[in-house]
Amino acid sequence: MPLKTVPFGTTNLKVPNVVAGMMRIAGDSDDQIRALYAASREAGIDFFDHADLYGFNHPGGGFHRCEQRFAQALRLSPSEREEIALQTKTSIVDAPWGYDQSYEHIVSSVEDSLKALGTDYLDVLLLHRPDSLVEPEEVARAFDHLEESGKVRAFGVSNHTPRQIDLLRTAVSQPIVANQVQLSITHSTIIAQGLSSNMADQGDSVTRDGGGLVDYARINGITLQAWSPFQKGFQDGVFLNSPDYPELNAELNRLASKYQVTPTAIAVAWITRHPAGMQVVLGTTKPRRVAEAAAGSDIALMRSEWYGLIKAAGHNVP
Ligand SMILES: NC(=O)c1ccc[n+]([C@@H]2O[C@H](COP(=O)([O-])OP(=O)(O)OC[C@H]3O[C@@H](n4cnc5c(N)ncnc54)[C@H](OP(=O)(O)O)[C@@H]3O)[C@@H](O)[C@H]2O)c1
Repeated sequence: MPLKTVPFGTTNLKVPNVVAGMMRIAGDSDDQIRALYAASREAGIDFFDHADLYGFNHPGGGFHRCEQRFAQALRLSPSEREEIALQTKTSIVDAPWGYDQSYEHIVSSVEDSLKALGTDYLDVLLLHRPDSLVEPEEVARAFDHLEESGKVRAFGVSNHTPRQIDLLRTAVSQPIVANQVQLSITHSTIIAQGLSSNMADQGDSVTRDGGGLVDYARINGITLQAWSPFQKGFQDGVFLNSPDYPELNAELNRLASKYQVTPTAIAVAWITRHPAGMQVVLGTTKPRRVAEAAAGSDIALMRSEWYGLIKAAGHNVP
């Protein structure tokens, strides 16, 4: 079954609501990468998420490692390259760790990503994390150069607050098409805060996203992309089958049996059910799990089921 698509920012493009993240392929063999790619295409995924950073800490790796492994393993023909969307990110720097949204850094990191990916253009470039020292005019100059030279077709951000996006928009003329942020049923601060708005003495009521990040994206036509859709918190393992979440797993299992899919698909559906039209960025390296997750693309969970899941994950539904 084809994947459900969602509008991509304010462009006329439609993109699948489940996409493949390539952060964890640094140590995989060519055959494993080919199998992951084939399973993704088979499931209807034609959108691949990278970052210059991915693979930087792999033994013998470095920046651009995952981009390079993807290109080396797949050796896509020009026509197959055209069939897919390649998204990558810039702005995180190493040694010392920090952030750099200067013109020089953005442009040189894109040049290196193009080389590593073996392509002439990126479909999407995201600013990976906010840079406190950002000069919006520099970002604008970099985006203009990359757009005019045909090297990047669309621009977005990741982990940015609404105000940080507003700041960029004081100088950047291209639409910000996407904001990639952490979201899973358990790590759902961007949704839980809205639910617990105006409540005292509850962790969920604390604003952790700059305030109204989801509403801001909907009002401004920015596509939200959910990273770590199965992680409990920040890279500390998945909640699926975790003894830390007995109630959530019971509910996931119940719904999986009702909709005749796996709990993985229900965890995806909890994100795709949201009317903001989000994209789920999968991180699995296992072909089987890609297919299981894709089955959640178009499951319209009932309101009671959607709220039941966030409650079972321990969030407050006041
Ligand atoms: N913008 C950002 O700041 C940011 C940050 C982090 C990630 N990302 C993007 O988001 C993508 C997804 O992030 P993520 O990898 O953290 O997401 P994830 O899909 O929540 O986690 C994937 C990890 O969980 C494991 N896993 C998945 N299902 C499992 C199951 N049922 N049982 C046990 N283990 C399971 C996978 O192992 P297997 O490989 O064995 O399946 C893999 O190690 C990344 O690839 C990257 O593209 C973006």
